[in-house]
Amino acid sequence: MAAALLLGAARGFFGRSLLASPEALRLFTTGVPNSFRVREPPRPKVVDRWTEKRALFGVYDNIGILGDFLAHPKDLITGPKWLRGWKGNELQRCIRKKKMVGDRMFVEDYHNLKKRIKFLYKRFNRTGKHR
Ligand SMILES: *[C@@H]1O[C@H](CO)[C@@H](O)[C@H](O)[C@H]1NC(C)=O
Repeated sequence: MAAALLLGAARGFFGRSLLASPEALRLFTTGVPNSFRVREPPRPKVVDRWTEKRALFGVYDNIGILGDFLAHPKDLITGPKWLRGWKGNELQRCIRKKKMVGDRMFVEDYHNLKKRIKFLYKRFNRTGKHR
């Protein structure tokens, strides 16, 4: 009799006052207003992994190892002759171009190239790392 009363009271206590009201469901609070929502992370992009460009990326990287070192990847580079498989700053680039194709250039282009080299060398002479 007393136990049933206690059970009923407990059910009434938990069932109504605690579990029924939405306020009471939150037993603790983080201090953030309820309207604050975290946005969903963006969906992963759909990427075609098998385009020709991706599939053939680096196919000739091991041309030396596989081809008995008869060829070097730098032989496959397309571009100006004086720039293939070579690296340098603008001054070095201009000097190399003048040396390699200077005798075949148009007069005006050659003149401008020499002017550019002069300007770059002056700047290098004043502010280069050698100082
Ligand atoms: C480079 O700098 C030196 C020292 O300042 C100077 O004597 C020389 O004339 C400069 N060379 C050119 C090409 O400007």
